[in-house]
Amino acid sequence: MSKLSCKDFISEHDLSADDVIAIFSLASELKSMQKNHEKHEYLWAKSLAMIFEKQSTRTRVSFEIGMWQLGGLAISLDQAAVGLGIRESIGDVAKTLSRYADAILVRTFEHSKVVELARYASIPVINGLSDLLHPCQALSDMFTVKEKKGNLKGLKFAYIGDGNNVCHSLMFAAAKLGINLVVASPKGYEPKAEIVKLAFADGKEAGVEIDILNDPVVAVKDADVVYTDVWTSMGQEKEKAKRKKQFSKFQVNQKLLVLAKKDAIVMHCLPAHRGEEITSDVIDGPQSVVFDQAENRLHVQKAILTLLLGGKG
Ligand code: CP
Ligand code: NVA
Repeated sequence: MSKLSCKDFISEHDLSADDVIAIFSLASELKSMQKNHEKHEYLWAKSLAMIFEKQSTRTRVSFEIGMWQLGGLAISLDQAAVGLGIRESIGDVAKTLSRYADAILVRTFEHSKVVELARYASIPVINGLSDLLHPCQALSDMFTVKEKKGNLKGLKFAYIGDGNNVCHSLMFAAAKLGINLVVASPKGYEPKAEIVKLAFADGKEAGVEIDILNDPVVAVKDADVVYTDVWTSMGQEKEKAKRKKQFSKFQVNQKLLVLAKKDAIVMHCLPAHRGEEITSDVIDGPQSVVFDQAENRLHVQKAILTLLLGGKG
């Protein structure tokens, strides 16, 4: 029985403010227990079935090891093996996995596949990245910002680059957490209007400002956080050369970073395309927290799993 206000974890837009507080608080607890080698097998004998239609390092490894640390089991299935929606219908896969596992994680192209799996599954479905959203990433990232900055409310978060899945999820998360967010993308690559509309509405409720610009210099000015992601996401490889040209003014380099606050942190969800959206001196520099972000995927996702599956108390 889920201890969150929703059955599934598909979008941060579905979470209540209390859900986010509960996730962050349990994530801190789990992180310190793991560091102190204290047992925390809240999901003893529970299992997670994961389907990957796209490549993954962080998501796959952090969920597999996370389930194991919680006393459970995770198995990874590639799309080539499952044939989701090809070998059999999404509904039949959802109903079958619901008889074996306690939760499903899916990484897909079309977001509608995640939604369809959740509709047919009697167990929680977790979005491990779709073309539209990457909620596990964005929530873990905001947890990292909280660790680094203490308080989230009123911070200026600048996202430079493609208005993609990561950008969409960061917009939802910022709106929920009281962070002012400025997105700077080249014309034609701004975040999707439907997401902007929902994030604006969430942000208005929380008194948060969200701006969508086309100028990275304006966006980064006095920012507390400077975030970027690849210009070409998985599935867009054919557009790589065109995108490289169109995004050339949107690189996070020292010249841009110097315009942010002196103590600004630099974030990237990884994998990075060094020399494109971010230079090596910046991603390896003192302001970068990219591997803390990668680590926190483990702790935050363990909290999400525990709360979704009703573990701990
Ligand atoms: N950031 C992230 O989701 O990494 P992977 O694609 O390696 O899982
Ligand atoms: N926007 C990237 C994120 C990878 C974690 C992609 O979808 O490929």
